[in-house]
Amino acid sequence: MLPLSSDESMSNKIEMNTVRAIRTFPSFPIALVVVGKEEKNIITVSLVHIFSFNPPLVGIGISPCRYSHELLHRYPDFTVNIPSKDLVEETLYCGVKSGKEVDKLEETGLTAISGQRVEAPTLEECPVCFECRKVQNFDTGDHTWFIGEIVSAYVDESYDRERALIYWAGEFRTIGELIRSR
Ligand SMILES: Cc1cc2nc3c(=O)[nH]c(=O)nc-3n(C[C@H](O)[C@H](O)[C@H](O)COP(=O)(O)O)c2cc1C
Repeated sequence: MLPLSSDESMSNKIEMNTVRAIRTFPSFPIALVVVGKEEKNIITVSLVHIFSFNPPLVGIGISPCRYSHELLHRYPDFTVNIPSKDLVEETLYCGVKSGKEVDKLEETGLTAISGQRVEAPTLEECPVCFECRKVQNFDTGDHTWFIGEIVSAYVDESYDRERALIYWAGEFRTIGELIRSR
């Protein structure tokens, strides 16, 4: 196929406001992040990403206006728990209520299991749980990224990635059609 000239390649596109355009990203994974020990809290996070495979580093983007932001600065670690689709109501609840006003563990009935190598607990009902020790944090625009090294990981033997929740633009989904293998 011949390369299109730059004018032709742009022909079907309208210029969009960049702040709106960033929201065209197709989807994000979802994690339930637990932080704290005595005053523990759960926050739903879609800004979650792998920052390194070896060592295994995972980052979470947290807005400074969240109660969890304060806790993430105060405590040395956190856990990243991957919910499956049967936890959609609990996931939404932890993403609309603040731990400043409610005890989300009590309200959702999710079970905190003491961390093995970190202070923060993991969530029994989530099929994948990572215990993360904070190694870095930095501010980017309207979020702070907290980077944690995964120091231990627990995965249900029957874990099915296809049941994991993904999210964007107000919609919870699971992953869809397989197009091809690499
Ligand atoms: C699906 C979903 C994804 C979210 N992702 C993020 C995120 O990545 N970062 C963030 O700071 N807040 C995110 N939020 C909002 C927080 O979860 C929400 O404000 C929560 O009530 C904050 O709890 P806290 O005040 O107890 O920390 C998300 C909410 C939902 C419903």
